[in-house]
Amino acid sequence: MRFLSRRLVMPNDLNYANALFGGRALEWIDEEAAIYAICQLESNCLVTKHIGEISFESPAIQGDIVEFGLATKKVGRTSITVTCLVRNKATKKTICLADDIVFVRVDPDTKQPVAHGKTLEGLVQQTKEEMKTLNVE
Ligand SMILES: CC(C)(COP(=O)(O)OP(=O)(O)OC[C@H]1O[C@@H](n2cnc3c(N)ncnc32)[C@H](O)[C@@H]1OP(=O)(O)O)[C@@H](O)C(=O)NCCC(=O)NCCS
Repeated sequence: MRFLSRRLVMPNDLNYANALFGGRALEWIDEEAAIYAICQLESNCLVTKHIGEISFESPAIQGDIVEFGLATKKVGRTSITVTCLVRNKATKKTICLADDIVFVRVDPDTKQPVAHGKTLEGLVQQTKEEMKTLNVE
């Protein structure tokens, strides 16, 4: 799992208990996972099909930096399944884990699923090469 993105918890991200609002965390997860899937499949014609189990493990508060870890779990013919872990950057404590987030590649005109042409093995290699260009381990 790679942690490539961070966000700052701001006042308008909080719930009535002054902790990160779950709905905001879900919005961030959907966006971060979509960016990840778009980069993996090298196509921005993706839609969110399914979000599996989500568990909120510990709160984040105003001023916390949270980081998003993403990994590819499964690669199908038209879909990709990813996992997203949100954790506190300073303490590394897990804030939220979202499993089985499925994106489907669709045709831009018909909006019907189309093959993305990727394999899990190919994506492992592609990601290694991408990491080199990002200058991160
Ligand atoms: C995405 C969409 C075009 C897929 O249509 P569909 O009839 O389910 O398509 P298919 O049955 O061919 O499935 C497409 C892929 O999704 C996978 N899939 C379908 N239902 C799934 C589910 N409930 N859970 C996980 N994966 C699922 C299939 O396994 C298939 O993957 P594969 O080709 O890699 O094997 C259609 O459901 C849709 O337009 N949904 C709305 C998407 C959207 O607007 N999202 C934004 C959030 S509101």
